[in-house]
Amino acid sequence: MRTPLIAGNWKMNGSAALIDAFGKAFASATLPANVDVVVIPPFPYLDAARQAFSGTPLQLGAQTLNPHHSGAHTGEVSGSMLKEFGVGYVLVGHSERRQLYRESDEQVFDRLLAALDAGLTPILCVGETLEERDAGHTMDVVLRQVGYIMARLAPEQRLHVVIAYEPVWAIGTGRTATPEQAQEVMAGIRAYQAGFDASLAKQLKLLYGGSMNASNAAELLAQPDIDGGLVGGASLKTDDFYAICQSA
Ligand code: G3P
Repeated sequence: MRTPLIAGNWKMNGSAALIDAFGKAFASATLPANVDVVVIPPFPYLDAARQAFSGTPLQLGAQTLNPHHSGAHTGEVSGSMLKEFGVGYVLVGHSERRQLYRESDEQVFDRLLAALDAGLTPILCVGETLEERDAGHTMDVVLRQVGYIMARLAPEQRLHVVIAYEPVWAIGTGRTATPEQAQEVMAGIRAYQAGFDASLAKQLKLLYGGSMNASNAAELLAQPDIDGGLVGGASLKTDDFYAICQSA
């Protein structure tokens, strides 16, 4: 019922050459039917990616956006600008944005709202630190992050949000959550959404992120509440990313 989604977050990595390599590798790729595949490069590569990915199954995403439509915000990019460059998805609340750039729940909400207003699909990232997990606070932290956003949205807006559960301790560490750990949190998020609306909970797309790779993707994606992946390091290699897409 839920179309699987595999998204590759390049973070501050990549090059024009890598964009070309992805365009070529996926031009003749046979992907499983009904899988959405999104590549999320840094801003300067979006237009080149739009051209290189034309005629391939690859869709485009962006890593963040400014909540404002336009104006005196030096260095920032708005949702309508992203839309103009063929972007369909945008990350909001990635833990690196929350930690390194001190984005609060309120700022994450403003960005998510701007994404919806621009007609982009926001991928809301949530996840606990190792300290929080060890203290037994995983679900509290994740549901606070999810709840802050969802409680402020209208029912029809909630339908357009994708949620990525990325335990902070699993990001870029090579230490993946076990399928059981990931499934437990995903099921908790879905159950929480059911409190708003049971049919929303069934439709809600949930991605796992955190050291997903070609070897562990199939097992993670086989979990009943995991509908796809948000992949970092392994999305920078055409073969690995292709293999993950094949597991969806
Ligand atoms: O957004 C994807 C991410 O944070 C996971 O990164 O390198 O652990 O797959 P990585």
